[in-house]
Amino acid sequence: MDQNYHQQKTPHVLIFPIPFQGPVNCALKLAELICLSGIHVTFLNTDHIHRPLLRHTQVLSRFSRYPNFRFQTIPDGLEHEKPVSGDRFMEVMSAVDAVSKPVFREMMSSGSLSRNSERPVTVMIPDACFSFAVDVAIETSTPVVCFETISPCCLWTCYLNLPTLIQAGDIPFKGNDLDELVKSVPGTEHILRRRDLANFCRSDDISTPVIELIMKEARAVPRAQGLILNTFQDLDALILTHMQNLCPNIYPIGPLHSLYKARLTTESSPETTFSNSVWKEDRTCLSWLDKHPPNTVVYVSIGSLATMTINQLLEIWHGVVNSGKPFLWVRRPGSIIGGLDESLVPSELLERTKEMGCIVDWAPQEEVLAHAAVGGFLTHSGWNSTIESIMEGVPMICWPYFVDQQVNSRFVGEVWKVGVDMKDSCDRLIVEKAVRDVMETSRNMFAQSGNNWANLAKKAIAEKGSSSMSLARLIDDIKTMSL
Ligand code: UDX
Repeated sequence: MDQNYHQQKTPHVLIFPIPFQGPVNCALKLAELICLSGIHVTFLNTDHIHRPLLRHTQVLSRFSRYPNFRFQTIPDGLEHEKPVSGDRFMEVMSAVDAVSKPVFREMMSSGSLSRNSERPVTVMIPDACFSFAVDVAIETSTPVVCFETISPCCLWTCYLNLPTLIQAGDIPFKGNDLDELVKSVPGTEHILRRRDLANFCRSDDISTPVIELIMKEARAVPRAQGLILNTFQDLDALILTHMQNLCPNIYPIGPLHSLYKARLTTESSPETTFSNSVWKEDRTCLSWLDKHPPNTVVYVSIGSLATMTINQLLEIWHGVVNSGKPFLWVRRPGSIIGGLDESLVPSELLERTKEMGCIVDWAPQEEVLAHAAVGGFLTHSGWNSTIESIMEGVPMICWPYFVDQQVNSRFVGEVWKVGVDMKDSCDRLIVEKAVRDVMETSRNMFAQSGNNWANLAKKAIAEKGSSSMSLARLIDDIKTMSL
């Protein structure tokens, strides 16, 4: 048997995440889980997200111990280093489309990842948002399994059903009745109001670049051989049943961060830290949390892309302070539009913050949410934050910003009953009430449903649990698809 034959039979997965902190963080976890099974993995990052990762020595050294893992980069033409705000989302996606896409096509058809290369890619796992990667996979006869890092509830309602929503006349909205139920999406007829649809649905124009991007994704995902989702069967049973009519082969492997931790701690060299954060975490907030009794602190964070105006900041800030609860607040540099001019902040607010608050640039969020002192999470409802909070049974106060967050916050409030949805309002009285609701008034109700979901999540990632079995099936399927 010649050497080339052997190489062609070696399973080799290409993971290609969209270049943002949250999705890259998630994709690194998936990559490591696949590596542990002995499969070769190439992790393809676009330049501008790889640059900050290069300084993260902990992540680099952890991956360097896998001889079957390598990072590879692809140009994106972007000069700035951090995509620190969601309004740059389309700028980044357009750059990838213009610069990375042709390079990627060349890499896969005749270049370093092609059939004729030293180590051909046998299965591609791109972010589901990269519809062009599905096209390239089909052109090069490479099996492809999409990895979706947004929530299944949004993927189903607003992405895969976008053509249905448009055809049914549900979008663009006619009139202003945001509270009208959206009846055209199977499974969520009694759950979603217009205001709960992803915010791009609020546009009067259905030919925006975002809608075009999502239409392409809606067409591409069902053409892939499979779909990996960061959820667990029990949490999204209703959505998954409907989604399987369009995408029969789904791998629900969530909560991915916990499945990942469970796997790494049972391996021969147990890990003590699991962070794949692209940005440096300020761990001093953990000792600040240590000083507080259980369930007393509100954790405030809007993830890696959301932003707020100074007025919104002040309303949320007043609301949290007026609730009287101590708080840990992540104020990511760049997250306040125009920056924070302290002269606009009332001195009393600053004084009270010194007494009862801790503010950091970036926190070790998974550890924060797992800390006994944290009793509530004021969040932008990003999917990673939501599922991390569900895993720890921490109730949420949702203030959604974009992408899937409007749908997620509705599911948090109405379906999973693990928090309060504050969407479309940003008023200090509403914030204060929501914090008190979650931390005091409705604490028992939230604790009960929170514990229920957290227990189901733990079962899902246990040895024979549904997410563990899905991961095992994914790994078997990668090997079969590589033959
Ligand atoms: C983006 C989208 O906004 C989100 O809606 C989509 O579901 C995924 O991609 P992001 O805005 O960053 O992600 O939100 P989220 O999904 O919540 O991810 C944030 C991640 O950063 C989480 O894994 C969280 O643990 C981590 N994080 C956040 C930190 O490690 N430290 C922090 O201080 C804040």
